Amino acid sequence: MTITADSSSTSSTPVASPTAIPAPASVRAALRGTIGELPVATALKQTIVVPTYNERDNIGTLLERLAAALPHDGTEVVFVDDSTDDTPDVIRAAAADCPIPVTVVHREHATGGLGGAVVEGLRAARGEWIVVMDADLQHPPEVVPALVAAGRRDGADLVVGSRYAGGGSSRAGLDGGYRRLVSGGSTLVTKVIFRNNLIQVSDPMSGLFAIRASSLETEELRPLGYKILLELIVRNRPGRIVEVPYAFQPRHAGESKSSLAEGVRFLKHLAILRFGAKRARMLVFALIGVSGLLPNQGTLWFLHEVANVHYLPAAIIANLVAVGWNFALTDTLLYRDRRQHRRFTGRITRFFVLGHADLLLRLPLLALLVSGLHVGVLIANLITLLVSFVVRFLILDGVIYRARRP
Ligand code: GDD
Ligand code: MN
Repeated sequence: MTITADSSSTSSTPVASPTAIPAPASVRAALRGTIGELPVATALKQTIVVPTYNERDNIGTLLERLAAALPHDGTEVVFVDDSTDDTPDVIRAAAADCPIPVTVVHREHATGGLGGAVVEGLRAARGEWIVVMDADLQHPPEVVPALVAAGRRDGADLVVGSRYAGGGSSRAGLDGGYRRLVSGGSTLVTKVIFRNNLIQVSDPMSGLFAIRASSLETEELRPLGYKILLELIVRNRPGRIVEVPYAFQPRHAGESKSSLAEGVRFLKHLAILRFGAKRARMLVFALIGVSGLLPNQGTLWFLHEVANVHYLPAAIIANLVAVGWNFALTDTLLYRDRRQHRRFTGRITRFFVLGHADLLLRLPLLALLVSGLHVGVLIANLITLLVSFVVRFLILDGVIYRARRP
C-alpha cells in the first residue's frame, strides 16, 4: 500500500527548545504556517477516486483521457484497489507517464466491497471536491470537469452524474433487456423506499458523482457493496444536490464485476439503511421463522396422517425438524459473518436448547393466558409465539451470535 507522504512525517523533526530562541517582546501571537497558504489537506482543487477490481486493460486509456480533460495542477487521482491480478503494477507504470499525480491504495481485505473501497478513497482524498467514477470508462472522463463546475456554480454539496436526467442516457451501457429491467426496477424500488431523501435525485444508483469534501462525514458511513451514492445521501444528508446528465457508455475492456451475490448484498444494504442493522436482522429472523412453518406442518402431516404416529410425539419431532431448518438458514444466511466466533457444535447446541426452552416459556404462558385470563386458545397461542420470537431473537443476537470487535 502506498500513500503519498503528508505532513505527519514532519513531527519527527527536532524542535528547538523554548529557551534557545527567546521570543521578541514585540510579538504578541505566533501564527502557524504562512498567511495566505492553504493547509495541505485542502490544497488541491479536486481528487478523482477510482475503485478498481481487476481492471488492468482500462487504466492506460482512463488516465490518458482524464489528463486530457482536467487541469494538471491541483488535481490528483486516487485508485483504491482490491484486485487479484496485477492492476496495481499497471497503475504504477502508467502513473509514471501521467501528468496528474496518481496514488494507489491497495487493500489486503476488500471490506465492504466497492463501497468500502470508495470510502477508503474519500478518506485519502485531499481535494476540495472529490469525484468518484468507475475505471471501465462507462463514465466518460470528459464529464468530470462539468460535475465539479456545476457543484461550484450552484453551491451544491453533491453533484450526481445522471443517466436519467434530461440529456442523459443509459441505453448504450446497459446491454440487454435483463440488465435494463434490473437497473430500472431497483431504481424505482429505491426511490419509493427513500422518497424523502431522493426527491432531487433521478439516478440514485449512479457510480459517478462529485462531493464537496467539507460536507463529508466518513465516520457515519457503513458501506456495503455497490450503492455507495445511496449510502452517502441517506447517512450524510448533503445539503443541496444537483445533477449533470451523461450518457452511460459500454465497458471499454474486461467484464462487469456485478453478480447475483452483489444483488443479494444490495437487498441487505437497502434493509439496513431503511430499518437499521438490528431491526433488519430481526426482519430476516421473522421471515426464516415463518418459512419454518412449512417443514413443521409437513413433518406433522407425514408422521400423523401417513405414518400414523400419535400427534404428541409427532408434534415434538416436527418441532425438532423446524428448529433444524431454522438453524440452517439462520447460521448460513443471517449470521454468516459472526459464525467464526463460536464453533459449530457450540452454535447448534445453544440454538436447539433455545428452541426447547421456548416450550418451557410458552407452555406456562399459554396456561396463564387461557386459564387465568380467559383468552381464546388460538389468540393466546399466537401471543406466546410472538413473545417467544422476540425473546429468542434477543438471546440469539446478543448471546449466541454476539458481535465482537475484530
Ligand atoms: N476496489 C474495488 N473493490 N473495486 C471494485 C469492486 C471491489 O470489490 N467491485 C467492483 N469494483 C470496481 C470495478 O473495477 C469498476 O471500476 C467499478 O467498481 C464498477 O464495477 P463494474 O463491475 O463495472 O460495475 P457495473 O458496471 O456493473 O456497475 C456500475 O454501474 C452501476 C449502474 O448501472 C457501477 O458504477 C455501479 O455503482 C452503478 O450502480
Ligand atoms: Mn461497469
